[in-house]
Amino acid sequence: MEELAKHLPRPIKEVITEFPGLVDILNEYDIGCGACMVGTCLFKDIVSIHNLPQEVEKEMMARLSGVISPSRQEVASGSAFAHLPKVREKTYSPLVKRLVDEHLLIKKWLALIPEVVKNMDVTSEEGRKLVAGGIDFISSYADKFHHAKEEDILFKYCDEQAEIIQAMHSDHETARSHVKAMREALEKEDKDAIIKHLLAYRELLADHIKKEDEILFPWIDGRLSETDKNAIASGFDKAERAIGAELPAKCEIFIADLEKNLPVPQNNFPYLT
Ligand SMILES: [Fe+2]
Ligand SMILES: [Fe+2]
Repeated sequence: MEELAKHLPRPIKEVITEFPGLVDILNEYDIGCGACMVGTCLFKDIVSIHNLPQEVEKEMMARLSGVISPSRQEVASGSAFAHLPKVREKTYSPLVKRLVDEHLLIKKWLALIPEVVKNMDVTSEEGRKLVAGGIDFISSYADKFHHAKEEDILFKYCDEQAEIIQAMHSDHETARSHVKAMREALEKEDKDAIIKHLLAYRELLADHIKKEDEILFPWIDGRLSETDKNAIASGFDKAERAIGAELPAKCEIFIADLEKNLPVPQNNFPYLT
């Protein structure tokens, strides 16, 4: 493990670039750093952030060590801990959990999108109403209710120049550009363009939520003081009061109605749960 220890204080992005074989092992432990590569986390952060059971962590580190110095491979293939769950349930502070819970409703919408696309009819009043409802859900719930709290409050307590925060801002902006394009396409009854942007939005948000849930939020949780967390929670309360309880309630009904009317195939979305 000596060789591995030397790399622990280095940015994960650099280490993965040097040793691409690490990605497959990290993926096995449901650690998405290889796909994310926003570059903020250090290699050692992957252990603390992802909070693996102790024995599993030991095993994973030995396997990672085997990639870094193959001649000193410490664990043969086949695991003595195969019976243990590889991923420990993530624990968030109550503050961060508020945002993680809001992701659940957005993920329900992402899961419904393939059926919405399959049944899309922009030539009928009813069909256009459904598409408009979906776009409104994105702009009112995902953006105005959720992203705004991240951008206007939470991120203000972070280093806004940090690559990971910049990456989150950029994703939010891209999502807004899809909303704008979908509104324009709906006006023109351009079904192909709506579908193109809706599917691109789905892919973007699925990846964005995964990065927040698995990397950004645990990272923030570990760095913010209790005083900051309390101040952010008050900011969230104030923002939600200003928006009113009607908006999230309306959005929940929109999703519940869709779920009643459209079949949501199991496993149609890899990051739904
Ligand atoms: Fe976000
Ligand atoms: Fe979010």
